[in-house]
Amino acid sequence: MKKVGHHNSISKILLLSLAFLLTFSVSSIAQEAAATPAPEAAQAAAPAEGAAGDAAAGKALFNANCAACHKLDAKMTGPALRGVTERRDRDWLHKWIKDSQALIKSGDAEAVKIFEEYNKSVMTAFPQLSDADIDNILAYTAEPKAEAPKPEIGGATTGGTSQDGLSNNIILGALVVVMAMLVVMLFLVNNVLGKIARANGIEPVKKEPTTPIWIAFAKNQFLVLVTAILLMLASGYFIYGYLMQVGVDQGYQPIQPIHYSHKIHAGDNAIDCKYCHSSARVSKNAGIPSLNVCMNCHKNISEVAESTATPEHSKAFYDGEIQKLYDAVGWDKAAQKYTGKTQPVKWVRIHNLPDFVYFNHSQHVSVAGVECQTCHGPVETYEFMEQFSPLTMGWCIDCHRKTDVKMEGNAYYEKIHAELAKKYGKSKLTAAEMGGLECGKCHY
Ligand code: HEC
Ligand code: HEC
Ligand code: HEC
Ligand code: HEC
Ligand code: HEC
Ligand code: HEC
Repeated sequence: MKKVGHHNSISKILLLSLAFLLTFSVSSIAQEAAATPAPEAAQAAAPAEGAAGDAAAGKALFNANCAACHKLDAKMTGPALRGVTERRDRDWLHKWIKDSQALIKSGDAEAVKIFEEYNKSVMTAFPQLSDADIDNILAYTAEPKAEAPKPEIGGATTGGTSQDGLSNNIILGALVVVMAMLVVMLFLVNNVLGKIARANGIEPVKKEPTTPIWIAFAKNQFLVLVTAILLMLASGYFIYGYLMQVGVDQGYQPIQPIHYSHKIHAGDNAIDCKYCHSSARVSKNAGIPSLNVCMNCHKNISEVAESTATPEHSKAFYDGEIQKLYDAVGWDKAAQKYTGKTQPVKWVRIHNLPDFVYFNHSQHVSVAGVECQTCHGPVETYEFMEQFSPLTMGWCIDCHRKTDVKMEGNAYYEKIHAELAKKYGKSKLTAAEMGGLECGKCHY
């Protein structure tokens, strides 16, 4: 009688779990079914967008002719142009864009007012633009502000991927539940079998008591010796490694007060290193540029392009970082003038040799012609600046031993080269042979 009862409860569990599995698989299939119609809906919406197709042509015209002075959403030399068709009459706009000065001279009240408001800056006349062109541009300015795409949700464009991700998660979850149920069932089966066995009078086998493994180990002197030696070697290795990296900050990558990306500046926009680190050519230090150097460009670049945003850093984040630059130099981007309120930016110094070492940039950059990247790594790919080289004595010496000095076209070296070439009996000399290993050259 008892046995039957157990049998019942097991089959009940099995049935229940089967029902559970079914509900899950049905709901995950339902998710996928719901996902399919989405692309069709998107297609249906496409023709509606097509009606405003000239906005795309307008965008190209705007970028080519107007973007130097106008932005859609922010004041620059001229006013922000988004929604200008709502505040101005279409005819007026056509006249203004073709020749704003003519309109002002005709005494048009609105035209005179905005001209005065912008300190009588003259907007270029565009007689070459056709009415259709101007309508295209106006269509572009009438587009609603697009929300910045959220890169975190990788599937915004395809619609399907995030749904797939969801159903994947559901399947994974279901698998976990099934595994858990299997474990529980195994435990129950084991229990039941034990009970059946005991009911039939069979005692489960008891384990023989054995000596614990660590006592056996302690009794074997050879094993103990080998282990001790291994432990000593390993700790020696780690202590040596630890001591050698004291004071070596390779890979040091602090958080800077402004997120300044070398990748975006020196990489994507190919700005020369020496445009900012100009003293590297002529002096000991490469130096960090003053904020005035930044403002040569950033008076006009107050935000980054949509395409600059990455999954890690959104456009809003980058724009905020440029705003920090403005706060530091005291630039009011709406009024396009300096407020006079400045606060210095405290860049965190990354490379730092001890005070007893003499290192000179111009000697390496201008005289020896070593590329910045040889010592600083692929800087043009760094989103965050970091220390690429160890800056140890061995590192300096190693390169001095390996690198030939450029003698051609350098009058300074002619005599010394002739003499040293005789001494070493070869035509090419390394920095080491030129004296690059003398303690006094690098140590004060
Ligand atoms: C050289 C700089 C410059 C260029 C290029 C320029 N604008 Fe302007 N725009 C201005 C200035 C400055 C004003 C403000 C009025 C003034 O001072 O003349 C203005 C005003 C306007 C206005 C009036 C805005 C309002 O709020 O009423 C419109 C519309 C306009 N511009 C459209 C355009 C279009 C379209 C283009 C490109 C085809 C263009 N602008 C190119 C400088 C420029
Ligand atoms: C538009 C200006 C600009 C350009 C171009 C530029 N840098 Fe920099 N660089 C900076 C600023 C600002 C800092 C300080 C902030 C930081 O460390 O990220 C810096 C920091 C550095 C540092 C670390 C300084 C330290 O604290 O030890 C190195 C090395 C460096 N730049 C090398 C380069 C090299 C190599 C290039 C060319 C591939 C380059 N930079 C191009 C502005 C610039
Ligand atoms: C030669 C021109 C130029 C100079 C000089 C320059 N920038 Fe930029 N900056 C740019 C351009 C171009 C972009 C990217 C715009 C885009 O992607 O649409 C940019 C983007 C940025 C951004 C947003 C992306 C990022 O790197 O986080 C910040 C912040 C920034 N600059 C700060 C600075 C600072 C600080 C300096 C001075 C040390 C400086 N810039 C000097 C041209 C310049
Ligand atoms: C031979 C190796 C070498 C080359 C080549 C080199 N640097 Fe350096 N750089 C260093 C060392 C070493 C330091 C640390 C100097 C110190 O702490 O006194 C340093 C420091 C810097 C710093 C921190 C500020 C400073 O002046 O100490 C900047 C910025 C920098 N380098 C930029 C550049 C740029 C840009 C170039 C290329 C034009 C360049 N470096 C080429 C080795 C090099
Ligand atoms: C990438 C290779 C490279 C590295 C790394 C390097 N150097 Fe040099 N260095 C050279 C070359 C090449 C010369 C020869 C320049 C010349 O006079 O034509 C030189 C010359 C010098 C000189 C002048 C030697 C003389 O005879 O007048 C000094 C001092 C010096 N380096 C110091 C250092 C220090 C300090 C470091 C490490 C922090 C270092 N260098 C790292 C390549 C390197
Ligand atoms: C090419 C440049 C160069 C030459 C030549 C050179 N050194 Fe150095 N030395 C360095 C640098 C760079 C450091 C700093 C290393 C660090 O901070 O890890 C250093 C550090 C040292 C230290 C301190 C060690 C430590 O870990 O703090 C001593 C001692 C020293 N050097 C002795 C000498 C002697 C003696 C000579 C001549 C035989 C010599 N150096 C030649 C570049 C040089």
